[in-house]
Amino acid sequence: MSQNDNGHKSVVLTDSAAGRSVELPVVQGTLGAPTLNIGKLYKETGYFTFDPGFTATASCQSAVTYIDGDEGVLLYRGYPIEQLAKQSSFLEVAYLLLNGELPNAKQFQAFDHEVTHHTMMHEAFKSFLHGFRHDAHPMAMLCGMIGSLAAFYHDDLDLDDPEQRRMAAIRLIAKVPTIAAACYRHSIGWPVRYPRNNLDYCTRFLHLMFEVPSEPLELNPVAAKALDLLFILHADHEQNASTSTVRLVGSTGANPYACVAAGIAALWGPAHGGANEAVLKMLEEIGDASRVQTAVDRAKDKNDDYRLMGFGHRVYKNFDPRATIIREMTHEVLRELGVNDPLLEVAMKLEEAALKDDYFVERKLYPNVDFYSGIIYKALNIPTEMFTVMFAIARTAGWVAHWLEQQNDPAGRIGRPRQVYTGAASRDYVPMAKR
Ligand code: CMC
Repeated sequence: MSQNDNGHKSVVLTDSAAGRSVELPVVQGTLGAPTLNIGKLYKETGYFTFDPGFTATASCQSAVTYIDGDEGVLLYRGYPIEQLAKQSSFLEVAYLLLNGELPNAKQFQAFDHEVTHHTMMHEAFKSFLHGFRHDAHPMAMLCGMIGSLAAFYHDDLDLDDPEQRRMAAIRLIAKVPTIAAACYRHSIGWPVRYPRNNLDYCTRFLHLMFEVPSEPLELNPVAAKALDLLFILHADHEQNASTSTVRLVGSTGANPYACVAAGIAALWGPAHGGANEAVLKMLEEIGDASRVQTAVDRAKDKNDDYRLMGFGHRVYKNFDPRATIIREMTHEVLRELGVNDPLLEVAMKLEEAALKDDYFVERKLYPNVDFYSGIIYKALNIPTEMFTVMFAIARTAGWVAHWLEQQNDPAGRIGRPRQVYTGAASRDYVPMAKR
């Protein structure tokens, strides 16, 4: 690496066979590893770079979230996740992610009021909902329903107007919980509830989920508090697969509701947000602490594609700070709700067995955010199929923060990766009769 008189750093790459060099500028963020800007690499050398899975490639500059995977650090707009988990609320975190700063009391009140007054969904939505079979997976319904919001807010949406972009972000944070709860109620044949504006964000969601017309809902405030904390922990995670999907779709100038629907689709996979559902199914399958070692042995067997769900992370090679917070709160929440779930013992034994096993130690595989979250959701009576939907509600704040950041970037360009082509070389068409 060299540094010129202006303090700009660069790295010179040399292709000795071709006798050619290229000087690549180093981009340094506020925190994190120095990054090579390879924008001119192809033009000057004829080479592309190859990095499937983006293991060493930054796709954008972003000021929203920072992760140090080696040290187990997660910051939202510079604030450590541990401090936000202890002192903030999900809605305040959503404001922070969107606006870059914590709100004062007046700003928060205005934001809360705005979100609260955009929670209703258009009545025509009910006919979309009734188009789904009762046994459709709620993530499939959520993806379709959020995508269809584009049909309600498209023709007069001007993406060049910052106020309209901001409103789209607010609408998404406000409406996703209403629609998510409606999907659940459709699956069990309950009538859709209207959001109650006198309740806070998480209590309102629990009412939307569980209130029946025939009797009032008795809700333990611990449930809303636990949900709020889980939502804070899931709110953003820099350029993960679903956020990158939102950005890629957003880079084309697509409708924001369609962008978030694409993010929901990406989140659903078991390697990403679908892991919380998969963890609970895995723990139920293991069933008893005595069968934990068999599961660990299967996960190590290279002839078996079985993995310990809720273990490992692309970025965290130490611990996932969110998992540490959730692990502590799981015991507390279950105790306060008076729930005695034998799956918690299975989970603790599994964690203990994996953490002292060389296979997991060598590969730096630690429990991630999804390992314990399912046990809390279960204690809150959230059905397993809804776990990833819960993740989507929280992550909507992050998705829209990234979408807004991208749309505000005057240097923004369409995302268009290149490839290493491995198909047939050019050849002549052979008429069917001669094949
Ligand atoms: N169980 C057993 N082995 C594993 C696991 C696991 N959960 N995760 C990774 N490995 C092994 C993998 O077989 C490989 O071994 P080897 O070097 O011998 O080939 C090594 O560890 C590296 O794994 P990788 O698949 O190359 O790592 P990755 O960074 O591409 O994948 C991951 C990360 C999260 C997709 C993966 O660890 C995984 O599939 N975990 C289980 C699913 C999960 O919990 N996902 C939630 C992630 S956190 C929340 C979120 O992002 O939404």
